[in-house]
Amino acid sequence: MVHLRFLETRRKFSYINRICVHRVRLLLLNFLLPLFDCGADIDEKLRVGCSGLFIYFCVLDTSLLLTVLPVFTGKYTKSIPFRSNVLYPIIDKQILAPSIAKLIVEAPLIAKKRKAGNFVIVRASEYGERIPFTIVDSDPENGTITLIIQAIGKSSDDITRLEPGDHFLDVVGPLGEATPIKNSGTVVCIGGGVGTAVIYPIAKALKNAGNTVISIIGARNKEMIILEEEMDKVSDELIITTDDGSAGVKGFVTNALQEIMGKNPDLATVYAIGPLPMMKAVSGVTKPAGIKTYVSLNPIMMDGTGMCGACRVTVGGEMKFACVDGPEFDAHQIEFDELIARNNSYRDVEQHAYHQCRQESQT
Ligand code: NAD
Ligand code: FES
Repeated sequence: MVHLRFLETRRKFSYINRICVHRVRLLLLNFLLPLFDCGADIDEKLRVGCSGLFIYFCVLDTSLLLTVLPVFTGKYTKSIPFRSNVLYPIIDKQILAPSIAKLIVEAPLIAKKRKAGNFVIVRASEYGERIPFTIVDSDPENGTITLIIQAIGKSSDDITRLEPGDHFLDVVGPLGEATPIKNSGTVVCIGGGVGTAVIYPIAKALKNAGNTVISIIGARNKEMIILEEEMDKVSDELIITTDDGSAGVKGFVTNALQEIMGKNPDLATVYAIGPLPMMKAVSGVTKPAGIKTYVSLNPIMMDGTGMCGACRVTVGGEMKFACVDGPEFDAHQIEFDELIARNNSYRDVEQHAYHQCRQESQT
């Protein structure tokens, strides 16, 4: 919270600074322009210049109160969007689980516009990889967005090492289609591992839309469970599963889903986000029962605007771009095996780069 207070003070100074620069420019214009009027003698020029200044102070300055007033009412962030030289500073950081970090990033325009399901593409440094991250939450008043990052490669590892005061070089967004939110009755929201960070804003929006939300969080073990409290707040029922049984029910999220389906024959929709094998397995469980199922895909992305083709996926026999057509799709239409193969194609190179960098940082 200290960071938020610092941010607030910085914004106030930035706003006042802008007003001052603007007013000095006006003042110079009013006084100096008449001096360049070559037709008049020096006394006449000074007289016109001084009357320009008089008009400036008497008439234009009546707007001073209006421009300064927002600083006291706190509305200045809305009247002029804040932009600093450091574009996207990290305001706060929290480690949620081993190698999983939550970052609060200042990005006022994105915070204002984002909806559940949107993502951003970030770049930490000039030569850094462009990586997509779902916007987990936002605070439009303070102009911040929340990102949750798992270190699975060199670039994501670099990002989890950033600290408050560091910044992202670019944050592009909000990208992707927002999740269509409607009241369908009883829905199930499944988050597998770090996918819980992606399902959370959707579960929250579905709950706000009046659905009965049953949530499942699946993790390898107790240590790897994230956002349990947050998910509990937006769910009517929350089930935890762990692969090793160290917390909640022992087993995969699909075991819990089958149990829920047995108890709730009127399930409207299932939303599942996590590793691809998990989403494929969930789809395999709901397809025979005819339950509409949405998953969020995370293929390799570059530009995030539908131009490079890096994120192409096959859905219902057609080529789609996850960045503009998704990232959410009807799970029963997705060619999961093709996507798993594409996502694995750079795995060896990534792992090699990651291990090399870790070794270099240790020596
Ligand atoms: P993980 O491997 O620990 O799995 C999390 C849970 O998913 C497990 O506890 C289990 O309940 C379930 N699960 C996994 N495999 C399953 C299977 N075959 N059948 C049924 N259930 C299964 O998860 P993790 O290590 O946090 O996941 C990391 C992966 O998730 C990365 O590859 C990352 O790219 C991906 N991911 C995807 C998204 C997305 O938007 N789809 C978002 C974040 C991360
Ligand atoms: Fe380039 Fe989607 S990331 S088309």
